[in-house]
Amino acid sequence: MKLDNIDYLQLTLPGDKSIAHRALILASFIKGVHKINNLPKNEDVLITLDILSRYGLEYKFSNNSTMINSNNMLFKDTTIACNNSGTTARLLIGYLAGLNVNTTIKGSLSLSRRPMRRIVNPLKDFGVNIESNNFQLPIKLNKSSNLKPFNFRLEIPSAQVKSALILYAMCINGKSILSGKIQTRDHLELLLADLDYPISIDSDKIQIIGNADISKQIDIKIPGDISSASFIICASLLTEGSYVRIKNVCINKYRIGFLNSAVKMGAKINILNNRLVCGEAVGDIDIHYSKDLKGIEVDSVEIINMIDEIPILSVLACYAEGNTIINGVKELKVKESNRVLAIIENIQSMGGDAELINDSLVIKGKKTLYNTTIRSFNDHRIFMSFYIANRIIGENVDYDISDASYNKSFPEFKSVIERVLR
Ligand code: S3P
Repeated sequence: MKLDNIDYLQLTLPGDKSIAHRALILASFIKGVHKINNLPKNEDVLITLDILSRYGLEYKFSNNSTMINSNNMLFKDTTIACNNSGTTARLLIGYLAGLNVNTTIKGSLSLSRRPMRRIVNPLKDFGVNIESNNFQLPIKLNKSSNLKPFNFRLEIPSAQVKSALILYAMCINGKSILSGKIQTRDHLELLLADLDYPISIDSDKIQIIGNADISKQIDIKIPGDISSASFIICASLLTEGSYVRIKNVCINKYRIGFLNSAVKMGAKINILNNRLVCGEAVGDIDIHYSKDLKGIEVDSVEIINMIDEIPILSVLACYAEGNTIINGVKELKVKESNRVLAIIENIQSMGGDAELINDSLVIKGKKTLYNTTIRSFNDHRIFMSFYIANRIIGENVDYDISDASYNKSFPEFKSVIERVLR
């Protein structure tokens, strides 16, 4: 493509994974025929779709549009396997608890190590009969005659937990109120508001009326995934001569922490065509090669807006002058891997300088880096981050060839990133 006579690479990306999970679950909640455009076909989203289809949700892919028919759904007692998808597991635990069906929720070995106390305890308080394996999966939901709406204060800033509780509230008669740490990605709230569902969203509380009628069907074009875009942005910033435009990306204010941090480092990034699509902020992102990046300090309150992007921000930090200090990283220890350790180990093995000091990740930039074997810890975001870190140095990236961890969120990763790195 040519823009003002300058060549640039124009890309569009599969839809945002977080929005996709929520749109699919809502489609199952609202009986009818729905249309979702740009549904990402990654492992996590496909497992949510597969589980819902076992309850009778019908779907048909054609081109980039997915028709969903939820008219014949029946939520029966069953066991569901969420594989490695934490969002599927946590959202469905809240939803199925509200639907009051006997369900066993299972996950992969890795998902079964992740913390579930944050969802088990509130649900117990609301009258849900829930058993867990020491606050981990498998979790068993047993029918209960005591389900109540809630007035609950969230202590952990987790969008998965917030969404799970909202889904629960939607199934229970009465008004539920959620307060506390609710300033996290708000895709479910925005989708519900766009469907005219009775939900009120204030900065300090969310109120939801349960079992309300919804007369609209879902008809959404999911904007491109900003988390996947972050890998492309980093690769483009570090590739000499690069000029990339990523069209139609979700720029929800709770998702753009990486973009903001990169700009603070001196990255040449512009957002164009800012608009709203089904309540979500969407824009086109222009990225230019940026050679004079500087280290920055990231405040712990900003972490939530880049919770999935710390690995790729760490890679960018390796190429910036001076220190980058990322404060408040403890939540990263309970993601698909212990990401703090995974980041440090990969950077150190490349000859870089990274360490954990108290709860801060400290990276000294501009060390001479060498290609080494990527250790992904079976974590998609670690794999993609260090694939880029290694590819920036040279073409021969060494990793376990059977490692397909990136299929979890971004199966198109290698083909897209190679277009950027050229
Ligand atoms: C997600 C929320 C975040 C994020 C995850 C997706 C979501 O998890 O890390 O990849 O879709 O709600 P937490 O809720 O655990 O912060």
